[in-house]
Amino acid sequence: MADNDAPATLPQAGEPGTFAVDVGQATSKPTYRADQSGAPPKLRVSNLSVTYIDRKGNRTEAVRDVSFDILDKPDSGEIVVFLGPSGCGKSTILKAVAGLLPPTKGEVLIDGELVTDVGRDRGMVFQAYTSFGWLTVRENVEYGLKLKGMPKSERRKISDSILKSVGLADFADRYPKDLSGGMKQRVAIARTLVNNPRVVLMDEPFGALDPQTRWGMQSLLLEVSRAENNTILFVTHDVSEAVYLADTIYVLSQRPAQILHRIHVPAFPVRDIALKSAPEFRAVEKQLLDLIYAPANS
Ligand SMILES: Nc1ncnc2c1ncn2[C@@H]1O[C@H](COP(=O)(O)OP(=O)(O)OP(=O)(O)O)[C@@H](O)[C@H]1O
Ligand SMILES: [Mg+2]
Repeated sequence: MADNDAPATLPQAGEPGTFAVDVGQATSKPTYRADQSGAPPKLRVSNLSVTYIDRKGNRTEAVRDVSFDILDKPDSGEIVVFLGPSGCGKSTILKAVAGLLPPTKGEVLIDGELVTDVGRDRGMVFQAYTSFGWLTVRENVEYGLKLKGMPKSERRKISDSILKSVGLADFADRYPKDLSGGMKQRVAIARTLVNNPRVVLMDEPFGALDPQTRWGMQSLLLEVSRAENNTILFVTHDVSEAVYLADTIYVLSQRPAQILHRIHVPAFPVRDIALKSAPEFRAVEKQLLDLIYAPANS
């Protein structure tokens, strides 16, 4: 349900019983406005605007006045999905949250602290494959754990387990150049998740995967978020993926990215592959598609 239309009694995302989704009428104007009058929560993005200026002085406004809060839910993981068309500014938002890109205007706060640089509390899986070419798959995955000074035997146990989960157990001693694009991306995912950052930033991480592997990785992500209680900010332009993974979806406009709607996804009792063909899942997908693709009424 679009937030500002929500009746006061509607349960919050993730609470048992949250089942009503009524995304309201399509509009190309923002219907969502974050209320940021309270103390900053776990993550606050406030009036974020980013304009790129290239060497010739050409300006590209990528993000305009984006504000959202993500609360700390210590007893439950949360997956927040940004859904928007190609080139709208999704990666730019994630990079600003990661501390890789200074905002032109606005700010990013983690636990009330201004983000000015990258930090171990945030881990990012980039849209392009980013494994270290000179390290084996296992060494890539263990890299962050080694930096933390974890003993070899412990590292090995953890990397064995995550490599199995992402289907790369047989490739532990190979180098990234020997892997396909999708496999490299799975190395990057494993390398980020293994460090268990409180905020995981994932930029279309499953784009290069075949449907079956993609479903497996989506299930893995749901398991990780449940087990580790971390917050996952996940970017996609796949509506079905958004509904399957998300507790909350932010629908973004065409560039410059603005938040058009914030949608609570029902707390489906079980999220498994069968859910994807269930009528209640299809209904949410359809409402979301109608919202995105119906001709704008204003
Ligand atoms: N380093 C840069 N310098 C100049 N312009 C940039 C730069 N990075 C991105 N842009 C521009 O900013 C806009 C938003 O880019 P961004 O990568 O955030 O989009 P996106 O929503 O992630 O797209 P996609 O879904 O295709 O990955 C685009 O018009 C892009 O050309
Ligand atoms: Mg992108």
